[in-house]
Amino acid sequence: MKVLVVGGGGREHALAWKCAQSPRVEQVWVAPGNAGTALEPKLQNLAVAADDVGALLAFAAAEAIDLTIIGPEAPLVMGIVDRFAAAGLRCFGPLRAAARLEGSKAYAKDFLRRHSIPTAGYRRFSKADFDADYVLAQRLPIVLKADGLAAGKGVLICASHAEAIAASEHMLGGALGAAGETIVVEEFLAGEEVSFIVMASGRQVLPLATSQDHKRRDDGDAGPNTGGMGAYSPAPIVTPALHARIMSEVIEPALRGLQADGNPYTGFLYAGLMIAPDGTPNVLEFNCRCGDPETQPLMLRLSSDLPALCEAALDGRLAGASARWDPRAALGVVMAAGGYPGHYRSGDAIEGLDAAATLPGKVFHAGTRLEGGRAVTNGGRVLCAVGLGDTVRDAQRQAYDLVHAIHWNRVQYRRDIGHRALARER
Ligand SMILES: Nc1ncnc2c1ncn2[C@@H]1O[C@H](COP(=O)(O)OP(=O)(O)O)[C@@H](O)[C@H]1O
Ligand SMILES: [Mg+2]
Repeated sequence: MKVLVVGGGGREHALAWKCAQSPRVEQVWVAPGNAGTALEPKLQNLAVAADDVGALLAFAAAEAIDLTIIGPEAPLVMGIVDRFAAAGLRCFGPLRAAARLEGSKAYAKDFLRRHSIPTAGYRRFSKADFDADYVLAQRLPIVLKADGLAAGKGVLICASHAEAIAASEHMLGGALGAAGETIVVEEFLAGEEVSFIVMASGRQVLPLATSQDHKRRDDGDAGPNTGGMGAYSPAPIVTPALHARIMSEVIEPALRGLQADGNPYTGFLYAGLMIAPDGTPNVLEFNCRCGDPETQPLMLRLSSDLPALCEAALDGRLAGASARWDPRAALGVVMAAGGYPGHYRSGDAIEGLDAAATLPGKVFHAGTRLEGGRAVTNGGRVLCAVGLGDTVRDAQRQAYDLVHAIHWNRVQYRRDIGHRALARER
């Protein structure tokens, strides 16, 4: 079979690499891919942007692609699955109406409230009905969210009322374009963050192994928010009891609610959760795709055939499917360009990839491209080095051995990925 993976980040490298391991798969196209997917056996890059739905559809039809897997949210929110389905092409991901769960935070909050799924208290505002007095009456800190997709730049945690009001007016004034036409003002939740990712098909659900990521740039979970600086699986915080609560209080009611609302969900569904001190799994947000970087350690642990699982979901046979996981821990360290998540440079030659390839573990590429046959940096998050081990400590050691083999000008990475899991291991 022929598979197309849409996207060009570390998540897509991992998904495509995993698909290529299926004996039924002859070829995996990755659009647009990166230097890592360009060099991987059975993978081939296609020079089409992930949000160029028309060109992707034309390619999939012409090549008779058997299965398309969508990595990033933008094409899903644009309705790529609807377009593929209308053309009779199999595409794993939610339809546009269901992808609104990620595409509109205000819609998602209303959905959560309507279906009694635990989440922070909130109110939504547009420019016309913004109420500064409501903001003034809230406890600090105050969380402010732009409604639409904002590439990780749409959430602010404000320490003062003045800051929250100014930032609200800034967003509503057009600072984030259409994404900020509506905002959500919500209560700050304390606790520990967990990613919970499932494959879904209507009300059928197959949870992936548990995972947890590190969103802040600096060691000790300090510094600015990023797309994710590292992740590991399993997440020891998700005990069997918490897993059961997340399934019954979040995932099952969400899938039931989507179906009841006339938007049955197929695809990866990612719940970003804040686990309260009393164990309540509060939903921070839903993503309508896999997480990046959680996908990288997850794919290293998955021993089942990924295309077969996607096909089971598309055929409505997910209830009978099961996934096998390597019992070892996997831990991924993101190597980023200096300056990320602010301004960073591109085009720096990446040294040491050949040496790293001889070591155990796996280096997934993200922001890289080939220049004269050599990999150079081409984004903020450049690589994700993933190790496996019997303990999180061993997986961490293997990941950092890969990291230490690789270098470029002004590379930055965290030195403490996995610290929460290590503390629980001790
Ligand atoms: N209500 C909240 N309380 C505390 N922290 C929050 C809250 N909402 C979001 N955050 C923090 O902000 C980050 C980004 O928010 P999220 O809703 O996931 O938006 P996005 O990923 O689209 O930027 C979260 O990962 C979390 O660390
Ligand atoms: Mg998030």
